[in-house]
Amino acid sequence: MKIAVLGTGYVGLSTGVCLSDSGHEVVCMDVDEEKIEQLSKGIPPIYEPGLKELLKRNIGNGRLKFTTSHKEGLHNKEVIIIAVGTPQSNNGSADLSFLEQAAKDIAENLNQNAIITIKSTVPVGTNDVIKNILKENLPHDISVDMAANPEFLRQGSAISDTLKADRIVIGTENKQAASKLEKMYSILHIPILHTSIRSAEMIKYASNAFLAMKISFINEIANLCEATGANVEDVSIGMGLDKRIGEAFLKPGIGYGGSCFPKDVKALYHTASEHDMNFGLLEETMTINNQQRELLVWKALSRFGDLNGKKIAMLGLSFKPETDDLREAPSIVISNELINQGARVSAYDPVAMNNAKKVLNTQVEYAKSPEEAVLDADAVFIVTEWKSFVESNWKQLVKEMKSPIIFDGRNCLKEEEIIKCEQVEYYPIGKPKIIKA
Ligand code: UDX
Repeated sequence: MKIAVLGTGYVGLSTGVCLSDSGHEVVCMDVDEEKIEQLSKGIPPIYEPGLKELLKRNIGNGRLKFTTSHKEGLHNKEVIIIAVGTPQSNNGSADLSFLEQAAKDIAENLNQNAIITIKSTVPVGTNDVIKNILKENLPHDISVDMAANPEFLRQGSAISDTLKADRIVIGTENKQAASKLEKMYSILHIPILHTSIRSAEMIKYASNAFLAMKISFINEIANLCEATGANVEDVSIGMGLDKRIGEAFLKPGIGYGGSCFPKDVKALYHTASEHDMNFGLLEETMTINNQQRELLVWKALSRFGDLNGKKIAMLGLSFKPETDDLREAPSIVISNELINQGARVSAYDPVAMNNAKKVLNTQVEYAKSPEEAVLDADAVFIVTEWKSFVESNWKQLVKEMKSPIIFDGRNCLKEEEIIKCEQVEYYPIGKPKIIKA
């Protein structure tokens, strides 16, 4: 099939490379000239395992191309996938301006009938808005079918999530469009759910909001475990063994971040208020998450009394491991709060240092290694559960510190390694602390 993808962010790029790898001819488009130039040479703009190899392979076999020209990209395409961003606007709703512009660009340049498939996360009813823009601007002899085909990939595992998704949701207005899109994905052998367009749009928001709610729920349980002496890890396992609950997304920590959960929970809350509904469960999910991001600072305050002049090593800056993305990362809130408290922050991340410098500027010090970050530190905060931190020699690392105090915001360090330290104070989340004087 001949496919065009508009937008080369995480979703567009992963979709483009995976569809070309499945045998389709794909052209990916973006307005960012530099990005397209780099991509055409096989250089990925983001850190994402497996992306580079797929880019190389499919550029090499001629099935994957990149262009900034809509005319060239849309020429003779049967399926047009829109994967542009829908950032958060000031009132919490999704900003649809990139999507509206994409619709105008398509209308101006499309030279044959096609299925317009919206993969961007969009509020229920957006397909109708885009269809109207297309109708108003398309030449009379060209018609389009609309489809909603939300994407469920996670950053850091975007390629494997796309190739091995749990399900593909296809919302269409007619059978022809549904079966064409089903054919497009058939080689991946992933279960497909056909729905109406509005249901497909809602499935994306409902799924992300539910997962975010699950995280906030387990974070509150973790806080309660600390207060009552229970161990949240056992509680998560015990809950997760119930198939109705499931074990995924029951890992407590310092809150969810990233480009999706925070934005999508807010947007769904906004949609509900537009329909005169107060979706209190979502409001509470957001409140708990905001509080949870500050948890390590509160714990350090209660341990030290005052953080003024203290050196805190912050290990991990990206919102989760295997990505260099800092969007809505807890590290931002934590470093701001530490600076407010008068602390010095020495930060280290294995891949997100360049992005961090753009976001955190000069307010924190950037270390070249975990060893440098923890040197003479009063405490270390584990903010992202990078494997290299888990595998570090903590017995040695704590010796470099002024005081061997660890606040583990991701419960990722191994207790058996902590116990090997000669002296240590280890504060995890929702389970008993370890103190060796
Ligand atoms: C998420 C959804 O999982 C994905 O389906 C959707 O398409 C986009 O949003 P992503 O933001 O890439 O993906 O990351 P994810 O792995 O879901 O983690 C999101 C946040 O939740 C991270 O900050 C992570 O640390 C946190 N999290 C996740 C927890 O705190 N506990 C968990 O148990 C799981």
